[in-house]
Amino acid sequence: MKGGYSHFMIKEIHEQPDALIETMRGRILLQTARRGSLSSLKEVDRSSESLRVLDSVRDLSLDSIRALGSGMSSDFDQAPCIKLGGLEDYVDNIMRSRRLIFIACGTSYHACLAARQLVEELTCVPVTLELASDLLDRQAPLFRDDTCVFVSQSGETADTLNALKYAKHKGALCLGITNTVGSSISRETDCGVHVNAGVEIGVASTKAYTCQILVIVMIALKLSEDSISKMPRRQEILRDLLNLPSMMKKVLEKESLIKELAKELASENSLLAFGRGYNYATAMELALKVKELSYMHSEGILAGELKHGPLALIDETMPAVVVATRDSLREKMWSTIQQLLARKGRLVLLVSKDDDEIIGHFSGNKNVRLIEVDTVCDCLQPVLNIVPFQLLSYHLTILRGYNVDQPRNLAKSVTVE
Ligand code: UD1
Ligand code: F6R
Repeated sequence: MKGGYSHFMIKEIHEQPDALIETMRGRILLQTARRGSLSSLKEVDRSSESLRVLDSVRDLSLDSIRALGSGMSSDFDQAPCIKLGGLEDYVDNIMRSRRLIFIACGTSYHACLAARQLVEELTCVPVTLELASDLLDRQAPLFRDDTCVFVSQSGETADTLNALKYAKHKGALCLGITNTVGSSISRETDCGVHVNAGVEIGVASTKAYTCQILVIVMIALKLSEDSISKMPRRQEILRDLLNLPSMMKKVLEKESLIKELAKELASENSLLAFGRGYNYATAMELALKVKELSYMHSEGILAGELKHGPLALIDETMPAVVVATRDSLREKMWSTIQQLLARKGRLVLLVSKDDDEIIGHFSGNKNVRLIEVDTVCDCLQPVLNIVPFQLLSYHLTILRGYNVDQPRNLAKSVTVE
């Protein structure tokens, strides 16, 4: 059952390139339309014979999918679009909503955090995030013109399910993003998208997280399909979606480097993680994985909040991870790195492989460890960035001698409040 791996968690981490493909399978359509007007594009969209569905994607090698992705040009020949069977009849309703409210717990909440900015950018509808238990504690106001999006791997989490019942009672449109077909949340939502990441057995969520982000990105692409102004941005994202599985595979090849890093950190008491923008979620998810599995204290911190308290924790004994891959906030992350180093922090930097400035500056510095990853479109970068830290939390846990698939006091489905 573990397919040659020693634990479900490490198997599921390594399954991620395939899980991403499964999540996209049958949902990315290649249009054979000629370059032309948007109306001809829409016609093509309606005529199924002029669409080649990328559902044979499983038979393709990762390399051929990559070639398909990089071969796409900005003209509309072969330009892909998104088909989400469960949402086709709801797009207009969702786009007319006053607010999109994402509701989830734990890692699923972090997936919403990672994708929120893109949903805001592409739909121009205000997006808020709610931890299910907090929404219920506050009995927060919800209205008939809200769309509530319930994200859950198991589809059975009690808090999320109770929040769904509450939202239905308030008359909101309820959309589910679940990995378990036939689960309570899948059945009780008005519409939704199955994640199709495959069964996840390890208590700590790994492949469901990266695939949930992918689903929310695909939903944002679907909802913004009619926007001409968003077309170039959508094309950029669609191209990189197809490159993602092979890029993920390359990150997984770094496991031996990560194992060495885990050895250096295994006896620490605490690990801080800093990120901002799309990668605030990466810092939060890293910290959750490290604490729930290795029982080491860990905190995810928004880098923009550094000077509002967390900086006081930094000295030569405190290891800190900084997610500083290339995007529009890279200069701000560079400044965070400088602030931490000025307080003699011991740093692990996640950087873009092509960021010669950072890599050149720190190679050889014994207080700084570098992890390099490929650069992908900013909104997809969190999908790659979490992988080294899933591996780190796995190896830390093994080195510290704990049960990585069954951490104490936790259950895979949290069916009580
Ligand atoms: C569906 C089939 C898939 C098939 C594809 C072919 C299922 C489960 N999926 O996938 O096997 O290959 O058509 O076109 O039979 N839903 C919710 N809440 C949720 C998740 C889903 O209400 O949380 C609903 C959707 O609105 C939809 C149905 O469940 O009506 C199936 O969703 P999904 O599997 O995502 O749809 P397809 O991708 O079309
Ligand atoms: C952490 C983890 C949990 C779950 C949370 C919600 O690794 O797995 O934080 O994400 O309990 O579970 P689902 O997604 O099943 O609603």
